[in-house]
Amino acid sequence: MGSAALDGGQQPAEPCILVIFGASGDLTKRLLMPALYNLACDGLLPQQFAILGIAMDELTTESFRERMTVGTKQFSTRKEFDAKMWDWLCSRLHYVPGKFDDPAAFARMSELVTQLDQQYQARGNVLFYMATPPSVFGLISDNLERAGFKTSSEGWKRIIVEKPFGTDLPSAIALNREILKYWREDQIFRIDHYLGKETVQNIIAFRFSNGMFEPLWNRNFIDHIQFSVSESVGVEGRGGYYDRSGVLRDMMQNHMFQMLAYLCMEPPASFAPEAVRNEKSKVLDAVRIMDGAAVRTHTVRGQYGPGRDPDGNPVPGYRQEPSVPPGSATETFAAMKLYIDNWRWHGVPIYLRSGKRLWRRGTDIVVQLKAAPEVVFRGTSIESLDANRLIFHIQPDQGIELRFQAKRPGPEMALQKVNMRFDYSQAFSASRATGYEVLIYNCMNGDATLFSRTDLVETAWRIAQPLLDTWKTDAPDFPNYAAGTWGPKAAFELIERDGRKWVEIPTRETLAKVPLFEGADSVLLGSLIMALKPVVFQPGDVIIRKGEPGRELYLISRGEVEVIGDSGEVIAKLGEGSVFGEISLLTSEPRTATIRAASYCDCFVLDKSDFVRVLRDRPHFLEAITEVAQARYNVSVPGEKLVEQM
Ligand code: BG6
Repeated sequence: MGSAALDGGQQPAEPCILVIFGASGDLTKRLLMPALYNLACDGLLPQQFAILGIAMDELTTESFRERMTVGTKQFSTRKEFDAKMWDWLCSRLHYVPGKFDDPAAFARMSELVTQLDQQYQARGNVLFYMATPPSVFGLISDNLERAGFKTSSEGWKRIIVEKPFGTDLPSAIALNREILKYWREDQIFRIDHYLGKETVQNIIAFRFSNGMFEPLWNRNFIDHIQFSVSESVGVEGRGGYYDRSGVLRDMMQNHMFQMLAYLCMEPPASFAPEAVRNEKSKVLDAVRIMDGAAVRTHTVRGQYGPGRDPDGNPVPGYRQEPSVPPGSATETFAAMKLYIDNWRWHGVPIYLRSGKRLWRRGTDIVVQLKAAPEVVFRGTSIESLDANRLIFHIQPDQGIELRFQAKRPGPEMALQKVNMRFDYSQAFSASRATGYEVLIYNCMNGDATLFSRTDLVETAWRIAQPLLDTWKTDAPDFPNYAAGTWGPKAAFELIERDGRKWVEIPTRETLAKVPLFEGADSVLLGSLIMALKPVVFQPGDVIIRKGEPGRELYLISRGEVEVIGDSGEVIAKLGEGSVFGEISLLTSEPRTATIRAASYCDCFVLDKSDFVRVLRDRPHFLEAITEVAQARYNVSVPGEKLVEQM
């Protein structure tokens, strides 16, 4: 695969002139230039290389260079700015103003390309980057053809196109047809920036370079798979675009389905571009297409209302964002259950969810294996065994984690959830990249492995289309989650109906903010991260009921609960960071009070067995929690005796 060249060969890419349409826009400044600069620093740009920007803005080459210098300094991913290297690149930047419907502008551009080609000896190779809306792809291609680029026999001509690649199946088919009128498939490079992420490319490297997991990678051993892409940001001033898009089009149909394809495809015969893309296409083709009834039972959509960002600052609801209509029915969150109807995955549910304004930013893929049978542990205190999980942390945490159980040191047979973890930051010293480096580099070398193909794009739309159709006719009940939370309760119900749970991954930082865990060492925080399970409540939901046995402890991540007295009155309110449900665990008596959600509530749950284990290991935690019980309910707990009894 192309990225291998970045690690191993370190050869500069093929000579070419890179023409960027829409060069004065945000993409060029934020991502393309910093990526090209990174490639230059890594010695991966050839000497025979120059860039020509074209856009409507009346810039000169000089002012374009100034703008790009400011942008690259601002958005560079490198710690140090290498002025010499930037000067090298900057001297190769050129600009020509022009409208995309003006043949004269294309004639000027064509002249400049010829001139630059001679100056830099780029061998007639031209790479056209469409940093523009798809609506002008056809227009630009048409004018390029008229300017003679199609018939020029010297060198290669390629185009890079950015998403959105269609807004539904018919428009994607139409767009493909339009582009294929001008370009051959091997000239078209459709960018999905997720495929530029090292951690995404590593999914197939990991699967196919290690003998350990691949034999287990099927319905016989895997219980289910979860893909979660959470964003804490809102629509970031892109309300107009986003309102026509929604999360299904913006994140799922492209980025998430691409990750799904990598995780679930068959081993390709080689890493040759077509071998990999054929397998991706085959697995997406096998995804069961939902009918309207399946959409209603297997998918959930959401839209955020006002709430708070992760730092606690108030933020508006989606409908109050600039350029969003006040009654918008666009989804900012979606969750779904898919099935892949092939031999390998038959019957294995694949859950996907993504949303804006969630409690944290994080992309993770959880592969949950089937649990081991408990029979061997009969007669011990072990009641249930947790299933093993292999977790791909895609971003911002980058790594792979395997969660399993190990015997706790001591005379008794007791288990504890533990993990093994590989972290990119510890294993590699490479500087962070924008993700565009490998994509531009591969395109310059004609390696299409990391780019989407006509059939792949259309197959992905085929999966999404019934959701678009059904959601259009069914009125949503929006907003249905508050900004800064875990998303709609219905998304939790979707997976819980199947007896499964989303894996929410609290970070050490989030837990350290909980007063109860103040001063907790990293061993305790690490074991809590693995033991805590997420659960969501809506206002009025009874969380625990007086008189019932206590099986777990709750930790409020977002929201508020009410403690209800015997005559139904509210005797206390507990907010974020509070813990409840601890008394009956401490005393082994039935619940002493009923607790009800006063608002939408995200809670972490700690099972009794994990709670007891933590108490045994950490006397400090026991002290803290008995103090809470004492202060709140005047319940005194018989310290050490309690631990023995449990
Ligand atoms: C883009 C979407 O494709 O991906 C954005 O249009 C989204 O809405 C972004 O925020 C997420 O990318 P990343 O790399 O930050 O996960």
